Amino acid sequence: MTTSLAALARAKGLLFGAANNTYWMKFPDFASAFARDCAILVPEYELKREVTEPSPGAYDFSAGDALRDYAQAHGMKLRGHPLVWFAANPPWLEAAVAAAKDESIFTRYIAAVAGRYRGHMHSWDVVNEAIEPADGRADGLRDSFWLRKFGPGYIETAFRAARAADPQALLVYNEYSIETDSPERDLRRRATLALLERLIARGAPIGALGLQGHITAYGPPLNQKKFAAFLDAVRAMGLKLIVTEHDVDDSGGPTDVASRDRAVADVSRRYLDVALDNPATLGVLTWGLSDRFLKPESARDALLRGTPRMLPYDDAMQPTPMHDAIAQALMGARKR
Ligand code: XIL
Repeated sequence: MTTSLAALARAKGLLFGAANNTYWMKFPDFASAFARDCAILVPEYELKREVTEPSPGAYDFSAGDALRDYAQAHGMKLRGHPLVWFAANPPWLEAAVAAAKDESIFTRYIAAVAGRYRGHMHSWDVVNEAIEPADGRADGLRDSFWLRKFGPGYIETAFRAARAADPQALLVYNEYSIETDSPERDLRRRATLALLERLIARGAPIGALGLQGHITAYGPPLNQKKFAAFLDAVRAMGLKLIVTEHDVDDSGGPTDVASRDRAVADVSRRYLDVALDNPATLGVLTWGLSDRFLKPESARDALLRGTPRMLPYDDAMQPTPMHDAIAQALMGARKR
């Protein structure tokens, strides 16, 4: 039996884990692989506001609690995701925000959710995906309903509310498409660094940048030098780093599974080599653990290529070459 990813990470002072959800947990082979390989868990959707506050002030933490209890029972750390996001919100929220008289529409929510899990959370994604240079703002922020109502200050307010609710949890700003190489991603990196600098300059209690890590095997390439320089810039601000949602999109690849798996494993290894080489990196989470629950993009795709192969285990819960790539990257990582 090979050494688990959790143990390989632990040997370097790192954390390995993955997103999990209450449905996937029903599959015993998935649950046992999860318990073996993961030392930290993030709920895939159970702590999103559409689940936790289906109607105003009526909270539902049953699913979040179930995953907290599972993590606790297996000696795993827990991450929260997300407290403030423009997506995965209940249908009543946007109108309520537009009509809101003050910021309690989100600070009260943060107090309720982060307060409930105080002492159980390794870290919280306090704000998720708040930049979008394509929206044309000078500051690169996303033109979300949060921004339209409260201005750019909502991000700092959210971090302060999270710190008030949980004195210990590491507070994370989480973002996507800031790792691989394209002019659009250059703009996203620049906007992310500018946001982090503004938050730090204002003394907001931010502790880390979350790199979602949704990369592609056949899309924008990974420029390791450029990616490493970006991570160094974040570290130079005194922030930590976490890879929060790693998977490798294999769409656009050949029908031949073996060559797709190789391409996925290769880019995952090159990505993690850079991320884990930075002393500020605390760990890696994949967005799920098995391809079993991934949906092909189209019926034609399902016919031609079968289930997407983007994660450490395939749909039969067999380790994929990506699993080995992650293991090699952890073994090659500097010890913290
Ligand atoms: C995704 C979930 O995995 C999907 O099941 C859901 O339909 C949409 O959201 N960035 C995030 C995650 O921060 O919360 C998203 O999760 C994927 C992108």
